[in-house]
Amino acid sequence: MALPKTIRAQVGIVGAGPAGLLLAHLLHLEGVESVVIEAQSRKHVEERVRAGVLEQGTVDLLNAAGVGERMRREGLVHYGIELCFDRRGHRIDLHSLTGGRAITVYAQHEVVKDLFQARMSYGGPILFEVESVRIEGFDGDAPRIRFRSYGDECEIPCDYIAGCDGFHGVCRPSIPSGILRFYEKTYPFGWLGILAEAKPASDELIYANHEDGFALLSMRTPRISRLYLQCRPDEDLSEWPDPRIWEELQRRFETVDGFRLNEGPVFQKGVTAMRSFVAEPMQCGRLFLAGDAAHIVPPTGAKGLNLAVADVRMLAHALACRYRTGTEQMLNRYSEICLRRVWRAQHFSWWMTSMLHRFEGCDGFDHRRQLAELNQVTSLRAAAVVLAENYTGLPFDLPGERL
Ligand code: APR
Ligand code: PHB
Repeated sequence: MALPKTIRAQVGIVGAGPAGLLLAHLLHLEGVESVVIEAQSRKHVEERVRAGVLEQGTVDLLNAAGVGERMRREGLVHYGIELCFDRRGHRIDLHSLTGGRAITVYAQHEVVKDLFQARMSYGGPILFEVESVRIEGFDGDAPRIRFRSYGDECEIPCDYIAGCDGFHGVCRPSIPSGILRFYEKTYPFGWLGILAEAKPASDELIYANHEDGFALLSMRTPRISRLYLQCRPDEDLSEWPDPRIWEELQRRFETVDGFRLNEGPVFQKGVTAMRSFVAEPMQCGRLFLAGDAAHIVPPTGAKGLNLAVADVRMLAHALACRYRTGTEQMLNRYSEICLRRVWRAQHFSWWMTSMLHRFEGCDGFDHRRQLAELNQVTSLRAAAVVLAENYTGLPFDLPGERL
């Protein structure tokens, strides 16, 4: 049998989503060499429709890493969001409540394209469409990643493996049973999302609590709206022709002052299930999990991508320290440090989800309670500050997070 093709690397990275690509780039800036492998094609990853809200810290990090040029040009900076309930809109002034922070609306796949571009510019290796990926030896000192690439058996012997392969990847399930503990919550609903060629009817995002269910107005460009409505987790899209979607959206965003969405051709539709999930710890020997491989949040708090960015920032830093100083002290604290932020984001995402969605079987009491909470958040400054601070993003150096 032919010997496998060997590609040596200091760090082997499984997955070329935002987590894997940004990790590879940050490591490159620190002089640490990595190889990235990805199960899908480059086109597939670049076109995958995902969320699009970047926290201030994420924006600052992408800029500092030299991959923010197009984001600065094309990203839409927002200084507030709106909460709509009882048929009235209420603005949360993120900027003044947080002492000057904002969010940037820039689609995740645009971030991915910018990261691909950066990686190509210095010839950093990424292998697409790999198959039969297995990771081995991470419990000792000789980890390796094995896979097939266009018919060739390949292996990457490396010092460390980064599992950035998302929720359905192979890295987390490769950890022997009994080591990880899982915390999970599934919600009895999903989001039906559309992209439409229609000028967003608001300059800022609108999160709507309506008795028929949650709805969200977001955008991609000044001419493309991104809209979501709460639906069943297994909703059948064939039952949702465009006119029905618009009718339902219009109803959920209706206000006493006659707010109307702008309608236009729908060019993308999908249903996203909602779950909260954490695997602890986020490391096992020389394997480190980052991003969706380790945790999932419901999209209501717009935290998924930002959490992945915070993980790999920490991991890149800890790996760079290891190569500079020879000690694994920081790597050993990777999971403990990341999990503080992960649980803060889990709480925030769960809280936003609970406050804004209709829960089947809930009576009028629960809806009234949600309205009371929304009234508090939009009228009591201290409550609004909590939302604004969490939404725009916690600082990177949470207590205990400083390395
Ligand atoms: N081998 C190689 N690559 C794999 C494998 C495998 N066995 N399994 C999965 N992958 C790839 C997927 O094809 C995907 O491109 O890993 C990548 C994981 O990327 P994401 O799912 O985008 O996860 P992550 O990089 O952690 O980004 C988190 O993505 O899901 C959203 O809301 C989430 O915004 C958040 C962000
Ligand atoms: C999006 O624009 O896709 C988006 C915005 C805010 C969210 C979730 C998704 O909370």
